[in-house]
Amino acid sequence: MERTYIMVKPDGVERGLVGEIIKRFEAKGYQLTALELMHPTKEHLEEHYCDLKSKSFFPGLIQYMLSGPVVGMVWTGKEAVKTGRKLLGETNPLASLPGSIRGDFAIDVGRNICHGSDTPENAEKEIALWFPRGIKTAKRDKSIDTLI
Ligand code: PPS
Repeated sequence: MERTYIMVKPDGVERGLVGEIIKRFEAKGYQLTALELMHPTKEHLEEHYCDLKSKSFFPGLIQYMLSGPVVGMVWTGKEAVKTGRKLLGETNPLASLPGSIRGDFAIDVGRNICHGSDTPENAEKEIALWFPRGIKTAKRDKSIDTLI
């Protein structure tokens, strides 16, 4: 099963969109595998966005990501990376179709609510960076059902 790293950015957390984003991934059929509210350091964010260091928007992106807590999540399921990005919408919210998260809730690329891994390889790198202690994947104990 494929995993993807989805992060609600500071504007998404501040606007109270965490539940909405979780609802859409659950409704689609993905399994929530990890979730944490985090206050990443500048160094941590520079590592996450290391491929973008040469971009003119890099300093502004880091500043925006430092403006409040983020919610990091791992979602698991068939083609989680590609379909996860479809659920988020285009990077530029104005190019995102209504029905996608950015299409419904954002207009600025610099305030685009959420991040999603772009390849399965990068997803695993990002999961290792944001959940360095690993993820417990214990199954629910179904024997409890017979006690009711
Ligand atoms: S690029 O230029 O093609 O490499 O960038 P792109 O893949 O479209 O986006 C990579 C991440 O950079 C963010 N981004 C921006 N942030 C602030 N301002 C501007 N102008 C801007 N342009 C792109 C974009 O949201 C991507 O972040 P994540 O967290 O991956 O969504």
